Amino acid sequence: MELMKGRISLAPISPEKKWAALPIFLTSLIFFFVLLTSLNMGLLASLSALHAVLFSREAVETHPSSVFTVPAQASPPPPTAPSLGFGVPRFAYFISGSKGDLDQLWRTLHAIYHPRNIYLLHLDLESPRAERSELAGRVARHPLFSGNVHVIAKANMVTYLGPTMVANTLHASAILLKKSMEWDWFINLSASDYPLVTQDDLLFAFSKLPKNLSFVEHTSRLGWKEAERGKPMIVDPGLYKTTKSRVFWVWPKRELPSAFKLFTGSAWMVLSREFVEYSVWGWDNLPRILLMYYSNFVSSPEGYFHTLICNSPEFAATAVNHDLHHIAWDYPPKQHPHILSVNDTAKLIGSHAAFARKFRKDDQVLDFIDQKLLRRSKDGFAAGGWRSGDDGELKPGPGARRLMRLMDRVVRSEAFRKNQCV
Ligand SMILES: *[C@@H]1O[C@H](CO)[C@@H](O)[C@H](O)[C@H]1NC(C)=O
Ligand SMILES: *[C@@H]1O[C@H](CO)[C@@H](O)[C@H](O)[C@H]1NC(C)=O
Ligand SMILES: *[C@@H]1O[C@H](CO)[C@@H](O)[C@H](O)[C@H]1NC(C)=O
Repeated sequence: MELMKGRISLAPISPEKKWAALPIFLTSLIFFFVLLTSLNMGLLASLSALHAVLFSREAVETHPSSVFTVPAQASPPPPTAPSLGFGVPRFAYFISGSKGDLDQLWRTLHAIYHPRNIYLLHLDLESPRAERSELAGRVARHPLFSGNVHVIAKANMVTYLGPTMVANTLHASAILLKKSMEWDWFINLSASDYPLVTQDDLLFAFSKLPKNLSFVEHTSRLGWKEAERGKPMIVDPGLYKTTKSRVFWVWPKRELPSAFKLFTGSAWMVLSREFVEYSVWGWDNLPRILLMYYSNFVSSPEGYFHTLICNSPEFAATAVNHDLHHIAWDYPPKQHPHILSVNDTAKLIGSHAAFARKFRKDDQVLDFIDQKLLRRSKDGFAAGGWRSGDDGELKPGPGARRLMRLMDRVVRSEAFRKNQCV
């Protein structure tokens, strides 16, 4: 696929050899100075402790800010399970589905439930009224869900190729901003998505990140999309009709924009609260201008936020080029992604991703994920510190290690800046 090819073909930046020796020399000088000073002051309790702090993998992993700022002095590594409140984020989830998706959405909700988070559910206008009120009823009757799970009562008309999908996502994020001041990241899922890690794993991994990062997989190398997406114009009748009909194409085609640069990528994303506020409140005109531009764009969910973040100077540096999803495409790619099955378990785990799609309702592979990755119990909830009542401390498991490795690759590495808005 375009995205993949583009990323892999990036030539590595070769370091300037003659300068390479200087930092090493300086570092050694500073090291010996520190060593001498500590010996003088009798502070060097044990060389191995210093070594552990400076070089151990654990220490690197548990220092959230170590990539961004070099700590001035070695501090003891933080406890592995931080107490709640300190640095542990909250997520705002939006799970959206359509006709017949009720049970699948219900299962996904259980698998990603955590009392720290806030959830917003939506079954679009295509789903029968009975299905929508069944969802609202189930949430209202549930002893836990009535606190932090909300349902959009006034369902939206959503056309998957069209701008009504972006409107739906912005609508959800506006509701979530209004419902709670406390969440840190917005996560957009569909009923056919499923988690590959527990919420404790995810909360733990995100507690090590700056809260301003947004995970938006993107590229400006449009390839075939330049002719197929950038130039054609569509009208989405979902914007003004009460019954569903397909988007239609209008002529003449338009030119590529010159006022901003187009980006495209995955429609699945994890957005920082700051970026969501910027998108929804629109104190700068760009979010609004782009929204109007994208209302005639084919597959606007694969472009709106990507183009917005990369054309906003204050947010471009916060874009992480990954969607935290495992999505498999057939070769050659078809309109919809490959449906994941038990044959894909090795790839699912090897992806180190937080979520995957697309799954069939109650497929066997979901039972595998429940058992092996989420340790879900009979009541449907995944393993987590909050289940055992001991102060709700996070209990990150192997999933947190997988996520940390992914973060090492996409955030805490040169790839973070190198792949940003290019
Ligand atoms: C949000 O999630 C839905 C899944 O319901 C997806 O189809 C859509 O394209 C996503 N992205 C945006 C930007 O709306
Ligand atoms: C994001 O947050 C980190 C840590 O707070 C900060 O160092 C960095 O400058 C911020 N980045 C941007 C682009 O605001
Ligand atoms: C999994 O692989 C086996 C053996 O290659 C094949 O027979 C089976 O149909 C596959 N199952 C699915 C759900 O694709």
